[in-house]
Amino acid sequence: MSQTHAIANDLHTDNEFLSDVLNGLNSSPKTLPPKYFYDAKGSQYFDDICSLPDYYLYQTELDLLPIVAQDLAKHIKQQDESGLEIVEFGAGSLRKVGMLLRAIPQINHFTAIDISHEHLISACRTLESQYRELSITPCVHDFTKPLKLCSTARTRIGFFPGSTIGNLNHREAEEFLNNAALTLGKHSYLLIGVDTKKSESVLQRAYNDTKGVTAKFNKNILHRINRELDANFSLESFGHQAFYNAEHGRVEMHLRSLKSQTVFISGEPIEFTRGESIHTENSYKYHPPEFNQLAKRSGWSTEKLWLAPQDQFAIYLLKHRD
Ligand code: AVJ
Repeated sequence: MSQTHAIANDLHTDNEFLSDVLNGLNSSPKTLPPKYFYDAKGSQYFDDICSLPDYYLYQTELDLLPIVAQDLAKHIKQQDESGLEIVEFGAGSLRKVGMLLRAIPQINHFTAIDISHEHLISACRTLESQYRELSITPCVHDFTKPLKLCSTARTRIGFFPGSTIGNLNHREAEEFLNNAALTLGKHSYLLIGVDTKKSESVLQRAYNDTKGVTAKFNKNILHRINRELDANFSLESFGHQAFYNAEHGRVEMHLRSLKSQTVFISGEPIEFTRGESIHTENSYKYHPPEFNQLAKRSGWSTEKLWLAPQDQFAIYLLKHRD
């Protein structure tokens, strides 16, 4: 890997950040897109969340992956000499993909797509030092948007772990799955980790951890807006809130204004009433039959499903019906 191989596709300009923030905060109810959580600090907070027992998603999926990787190695036969390519959407720390790379020796190419530039490059460098044979392409890109990869005859396996798809509503999730099929090309597979519906108290605790790391992660978005968009949010005047919305099958995160106040963002005033919230994230949960249906509507069929103990988490192997 080298800088020159990184696809320069950084659409994430300050202007787009500013217009997304102003659009969201001038809507009613107020919203902010969760993709902006992940600046350097936010990515660090997210890694911290993943080591909390309350946030069962990370460890549960990680524990399931060795079995998945073994089964996958048997299931996916090498279809031509050029080997297999893994394309990870929202690549994060790349720890999980390592488990696939170790178990499936046919993989000779790895494309890592992530919106956080520094995080992606440093994670790719670490991976590169561990897998000398592997060719690695880091790609700074918003994975919800279509992306053209260099065309090869290789069979591609998309990898989308962590229930990141939960951030998308059902329509957006279908759109993502459609785009992923276009990005990955013919005969592709998609290995996708999706959180399941379960007891409300377990879900509640996962997003209201006792150490308050999730609260810091949530509030960091205001920090980022202050720093990058010349704003004056006072972080003490907003409270973290997360709860399960059973009607929509999703955990919602909010930042609630603890008083009536006016905040300025690049000179533009934004009014908050006391108790008014900014809806910062949705994390949709799926029963396996619901997710199979969703995938099917986007042209994918479920070839395999692995469930963690007590159905705490699901990993699906989808194959595209070309
Ligand atoms: C990375 C989107 C899967 O929704 O569970 C963790 C982010 N938010 N704690 C999730 C998150 C609060 C996470 N995803």
